[in-house]
Amino acid sequence: MSDAPRRGRFITFEGPDGSGKSTQIRRLAARLEALGVPVVATREPGGSPGADAIRHIVLSGAAEEMGVETEALLFAAARYDHVRSVIAPALRDGAFVLCDRFLDSTRAYQGSVPGLDQAFLAEVEAATTAGIRPDLTLILDVPSDVSLKRLSERRSADAADRFEKDGDEIFRARRQAFLDIAAREPDRCVVIDASGSIEEIGRQIEDLVLDRFGEEISRLPIRRHGSAL
Ligand code: ADP
Ligand code: TYD
Repeated sequence: MSDAPRRGRFITFEGPDGSGKSTQIRRLAARLEALGVPVVATREPGGSPGADAIRHIVLSGAAEEMGVETEALLFAAARYDHVRSVIAPALRDGAFVLCDRFLDSTRAYQGSVPGLDQAFLAEVEAATTAGIRPDLTLILDVPSDVSLKRLSERRSADAADRFEKDGDEIFRARRQAFLDIAAREPDRCVVIDASGSIEEIGRQIEDLVLDRFGEEISRLPIRRHGSAL
């Protein structure tokens, strides 16, 4: 990777399955693009051809029998490729990268499995991300009954993946793990109450992002709506 300084901004969306991350990313991307901001919206696991191949292995449950450490390494391998082939280049080009899940999902999902060595996870993290850390992480917080209900509605068209099959107790542990991360890193993380309407949550996110990055957005050269990088 080149050592060119990164000029863009990296915003990650985290939270339980069904908390509304992809819905809110689509909304924020449209709003930022309308303001002339170059946006790259991406997701994990996946976001690059190599990482998408690994996505299938982890979400199908094919790696479950190998244990949580192997699953953590597979998520990290996908992230390693995604960071180097998509996220870092986009940041160097000055884009706002909006990413559906990142490091905190490994901490919350794999990290909340009893018995997993946290030092192991920290070493994997350090080896994965080429020093790239989110500028802002929005943690969409919902009670587990709300996210489970949204998922069961969404699922009519789509079968549950390896992690969505888990029960209420595991959903609660992950939710708490996200809240603990936010408490440990209050400068980077903001917890959003994601149990309201799509519009209410969207406005809150938009206000927050414009409050934090509005000045630099206003200094961007005027661009045509939706123009490419
Ligand atoms: P995630 O990406 O976090 O898994 P999605 O954005 O895919 O969540 O949302 C899961 C389901 O819930 C979708 O069917 C979506 O339309 C719906 N949904 C998202 N946000 C809300 C909300 N605030 N209120 C009600 N339903 C929502
Ligand atoms: P996805 O269908 O992308 O779910 P969502 O729409 O809720 O984001 O599936 C990703 C699943 O993988 C989700 O259940 C969380 C899990 N996951 C981990 O367990 N660890 C990780 O590091 C990542 C990135 C995802």
